[in-house]
Amino acid sequence: MKDIQFLLERFHCHFVGNDNSPKVFFAPGRINLIGEHTDYNGGFVMPLAFQLGTYIVTAPSANKCFRFYSENFKSHYEHPYGLETSKGKADWFKYPMGVVDRFVRHSGWPDCGWDLYFFGDLPLSAGLSSSASIEMVTAVAMDFIFQSTYPMIELVKIAKEAENEFVGLQCGILDMFASGMGRKGHCLLIDCNSMEFSTIPFKTGDYRLIIMNTNKRRGLADSKYNERVKECEQALADLRQEVDIDFLCALSYSDFQKYGAAINNPMHYKRARHVISENQRTQDAAQALIANDIRRFGKLMVESHKSLHSDYEVTGLELDTLVEASMEAEGVMGARMTGAGFGGCAIALVHRNHISKFQHHVEKVYLQKTGLKVEFYDAYAVNGACRIL
Ligand code: GLA
Repeated sequence: MKDIQFLLERFHCHFVGNDNSPKVFFAPGRINLIGEHTDYNGGFVMPLAFQLGTYIVTAPSANKCFRFYSENFKSHYEHPYGLETSKGKADWFKYPMGVVDRFVRHSGWPDCGWDLYFFGDLPLSAGLSSSASIEMVTAVAMDFIFQSTYPMIELVKIAKEAENEFVGLQCGILDMFASGMGRKGHCLLIDCNSMEFSTIPFKTGDYRLIIMNTNKRRGLADSKYNERVKECEQALADLRQEVDIDFLCALSYSDFQKYGAAINNPMHYKRARHVISENQRTQDAAQALIANDIRRFGKLMVESHKSLHSDYEVTGLELDTLVEASMEAEGVMGARMTGAGFGGCAIALVHRNHISKFQHHVEKVYLQKTGLKVEFYDAYAVNGACRIL
């Protein structure tokens, strides 16, 4: 956790003259353990919220506007009250503004102005949900500012709508759900169709969860993400000629084997095969974790990565190299990409006695094959978005 004193000092440094007493909010990033590209197909996902994320320090001000400052981007944005929220959105501001927009539409503008200082310690555009953590921390801060007292699950939905409509990425609910509803020491098993979820103790014995950053930057909105969403919709439309379903994950894997031939385009067939098999793997992985069967859990991670490589085609040289190199190292139970893919991060479960040898091996192979330097982070599960001061 970032030192709160540091955050308060930085707030006062930037918003000179604002002597009102600030409040501080935090929303974590997430790691998806398994269940990739299933959320927008009504399937299961299994994320945890981890210790890195985004902070907001905020206090009321005399100016009738929202003033945002991002420490990470060193950039300031001022939004006068009354001005159309969809106008003037640029760069990172569209993430908080999309959330603000939702609150303003519902409740109108607040009575006084507010200064908001943002600080994030998550690597950006790395597939660890820096965007969702900005949206969720804005949502909990706005909930306070507008005194709306929404349940967390409503804030999760507001953040998702903001991303879909304001930012234009057709993402599912995974990232915001994990960032909002995460539980210390646990991962979540979320049914993205019914939005029901359970918490599972994230107990991996002697194995530690290590994040590996490809350091290959990619913008999700520019990537092929929306294209994959469309391909799944087309596969679903074909399947619906044969079987009465509303979303891909309504089909079990054995039913997919029965009806899959209804999908005309072979590429769409592969996309659907990934989604439906991944949905099964995610439920199996939850059972494995509950049964303390880390070996099985690790195997399912590797199978998930293979399917994302061959059928969903979202891995690429960098993620594949990290996962292959991880699996060559001693003491590794499993590894896979996490998040949308197209760069970003992979994760591995590594025996605590082998971590430095593992890192040395992966670093060497990755540099040789890609010319890039991998970065490692430890991860532990924390609670979701909240006010911390
Ligand atoms: C991104 C999206 C999520 C989810 C994952 C892939 O993180 O924001 O909604 O689709 O990719 O599992």
